[in-house]
Amino acid sequence: MSNRICEILGIDKPVIQGPMVWLTDARLAAAVSNAGGMGSLGPNAGQTVVTRDPEGTAENMRAEIRKVRELTDKPFSVNVLPTQGREDIYTPPMLKVIYEEKVPVVTFVGEPDAAMFAEFKEHGIKIVYRSLNPSPENAKAAEEAGADIIVATGFDEGGTLPGMVLGTFSIVPLIVDAVDHTPVMAAGGIADARAFDAALALGAEGVYCGTAFLMSEESRMADNVKQAVLAANARDLLLFRTIPAYYRSLPGRLANALVAMDQAGASNEELGRKMGGFANLRLGMLEGDMENGYVSVGNGISHIHEIKSCQAIVDDLTKHFSL
Ligand SMILES: Cc1cc2nc3c(=O)[nH]c(=O)nc-3n(C[C@H](O)[C@H](O)[C@H](O)COP(=O)(O)O)c2cc1C
Repeated sequence: MSNRICEILGIDKPVIQGPMVWLTDARLAAAVSNAGGMGSLGPNAGQTVVTRDPEGTAENMRAEIRKVRELTDKPFSVNVLPTQGREDIYTPPMLKVIYEEKVPVVTFVGEPDAAMFAEFKEHGIKIVYRSLNPSPENAKAAEEAGADIIVATGFDEGGTLPGMVLGTFSIVPLIVDAVDHTPVMAAGGIADARAFDAALALGAEGVYCGTAFLMSEESRMADNVKQAVLAANARDLLLFRTIPAYYRSLPGRLANALVAMDQAGASNEELGRKMGGFANLRLGMLEGDMENGYVSVGNGISHIHEIKSCQAIVDDLTKHFSL
C-alpha cells in the first residue's frame, strides 16, 4: 500500500504536527520529523517576547529554522498565514526567509492564493493547505491553485475554531468528496490510534494534530498546564464565542469570565478584546498562568493519559498503519 502523503512530503508516517504559535519551536518540530512524521513552526516559534517589527519576526523565524536543521535532516514546515482584511506586513519578509532558507513545506492557512502558490512551486516548496473554515468550495479552489495536500479541520480541534460547527467526522468526508485528486488529511480531536484509523476510514490519508503534540515531552507548554490537561477531558472544556468565531479553554478566571460574557450577550468583538489574542494564549499555555491567560486544546484530550515523547506519539497514532 502506498501513501500519497508520505510520498509528497518525503516522510515515513502520514502525521503532521500542526503549527501552534508560541508553543512550537525547533525542538518540537524536529522531534516530530525525526519520529517519521513532519513538524511545523508557527508564528513566534521558539520566542518568549513579542516582536512587533515584521523584519525582526521573520529573522527570529530564520534562526528557528536553522535550529531545526541542526536537529534533523528531515522535512519540516513553516506556517504562512496571510492577514485577511488589512495590509499584510508580516508575510512578505516571512516569505523571503522561507525562500532563502529553502524551507521544504509550507502549512498555509487562509483563502487559497493562486499567485502565492505558484511562487511556492517555483521554489520547489510543497503546499499543505488548511482553511480555518473548511468548505468544498475552498478545498476545490485550493486544489485548482496547486495545493499538494488539503487539511480538513473539524470543530473538535484546539486553537481558532471554525465558524461552522461541523465535527471532524462530518467535515472530513465532505472535503474528501469535494476534491478531485488531492490527498486530504484530517485535523481536530485526533490523539490516538483509533482516531487515526477512523480518519483513514473516512477517506483521509493522514492526520494533522496539534493538541497531541502539546502534550509531548518535547513540547514547551508549561508543566502545570500539561498536568491540568492530563487531569481533564473534553467535557471540562469551556466553549465561548470570540473573533473570528469560537474558542475553547480549560476553566480559569479569564475563561470563566468569557463564558459569562458570552451568556450575557456580549458581541464577538467585545469577547475578542477581553480574550486578549495570542498574548493571553502565551500567558496561559507557555507561562502557565491559567487564571489570567487561557488554555486552548482540542477534544482529543480525553484520550491523552500520559506525557510521552513525540516518537511514542507518532508510533502510537500509526500503530495499525503500514505502507
Ligand atoms: C494552542 C494552539 C495554537 C494554534 N496555533 C496555530 C497557528 O499558529 N497556526 C495554525 O495554522 N494553526 C494553529 N493551531 C491549529 C493546529 O495547527 C491544528 O490544526 C489543530 O491543533 C488540530 O486540532 P487538535 O488540537 O485537536 O489536534 C493551533 C492549535 C492550538 C491547540
